[in-house]
Amino acid sequence: MRIAVYPGSFDPITNGHLDIIKRASKLYDRLIVGVLDNSSKSPMFTSLERKSMIDEQIKDLPNVSCDVFSGLLVDFAKQNGASVIVKGLRTVADFEYEFQMALLNKSLNSDYETMFMMTDSKYSYISSSMVKEVAKYDGELEGLVPQEVIIKIKDKIH
Ligand code: PNS
Repeated sequence: MRIAVYPGSFDPITNGHLDIIKRASKLYDRLIVGVLDNSSKSPMFTSLERKSMIDEQIKDLPNVSCDVFSGLLVDFAKQNGASVIVKGLRTVADFEYEFQMALLNKSLNSDYETMFMMTDSKYSYISSSMVKEVAKYDGELEGLVPQEVIIKIKDKIH
């Protein structure tokens, strides 16, 4: 059984994340979306709110589940019996950061491979932080995040 984890802050999940989840779910028997519970980052949404937004989006993907984790990613992967870490790549800037994390994770535990998926070009400019910036100034969120997430963001801001 090929099990992969797709980790991130997902604050909130974007259409770019969702695209990676859907594509990766076709490559592995099971895909576990790992939401990092990182209180030091002062996120817009709690980890449980982030998980619940993801659960809503993955409900029709039978081999995908979502869990909150804290601590090291390689430990989360191990607890879930995963052998692969899936990451999405948008830009060269992403690559430098992701390359460093992949090497670090490899040095922490050499059992895991990081697999990179190129983002679909139509999502390459979307990030959770840009979404929050646009939301802060009441900009149009259509196309950046799923409808249900737009509602949650508006609830949070107003
Ligand atoms: O969506 P993000 O914030 O870019 O995701 C970063 C994430 C969650 C993948 C990364 O911070 C992570 O793996 N954190 C868990 C702690 C850990 O394992 N650190 C060592 C590798 S960076």
